[in-house]
Amino acid sequence: MKMVHVSRSRLGLLVWASTATISTVVALVSYRYLVGQGPVPPNIAANRHFDPWIAVHAAGAATALLLGPWQFRPRLRVRWPFLHKCIGRIYALGCASGGLAALVLATGLSSGPVAGAGFAALGLAWLITTGLAVREVLAGRIAPHRRWMIRSFALTLSAVTLRIYLPLSDVFNVEFLTAYRTIAWACWLPNLLLAELFLWRRPTSVLFAHPVTTSKE
Ligand code: HEM
Repeated sequence: MKMVHVSRSRLGLLVWASTATISTVVALVSYRYLVGQGPVPPNIAANRHFDPWIAVHAAGAATALLLGPWQFRPRLRVRWPFLHKCIGRIYALGCASGGLAALVLATGLSSGPVAGAGFAALGLAWLITTGLAVREVLAGRIAPHRRWMIRSFALTLSAVTLRIYLPLSDVFNVEFLTAYRTIAWACWLPNLLLAELFLWRRPTSVLFAHPVTTSKE
């Protein structure tokens, strides 16, 4: 039998391209809250803090989701370090505004405190991982900066996993509230675990090539 050999770099590119594509689609669809067009799910419209917080949240969080994948392209970081820094600042601001608005929204959920606690914990974890990544880069510690950013983006991707699990729960006829409360936790805890598994015992030197070399790595 003929074995199909896919090199690690090709596989990496494939994973990146699929992640970037789905992230872009989810982000662009989410911007509808900024223009007040398109469908609003009834449980979201029933959030006590819908107006104006959903628009603030969608603006920041969707921007982080849209830009995040580009920060993981080694060539972009090496050739255009200035662009990497600009996008990084916008990503961090998106996480900060999107995360703070998410904390407000989490206190107004129509689906109750279990889902509220799930989203609040996610929001806190998102703010903390992104904040630590920013702190590390400002201190010139590039290796821990990368590691915290991988965790931060794994959490950003909860917007994608949530939108995969919700229709799946419908396919499997899981009652909406039960599914929503479970997914408020399940959309991010496995992402974080996967990020930890990825980082586990991986020396940072093999993670990415980076334009900045530092003795603190
Ligand atoms: C990672 C941390 C995040 C947290 C803690 C969070 C939290 C929340 C909360 C609490 C709600 C309201 C849910 C309800 O009332 O039932 C919400 C809705 C929403 N979030 Fe997030 N979110 C996060 C990330 C993102 C990202 C990265 C996007 C990017 C697209 C996003 C886009 C949206 C949208 C569009 C809605 C409205 C619901 C919909 O139309 O599907 N969120 N989020």
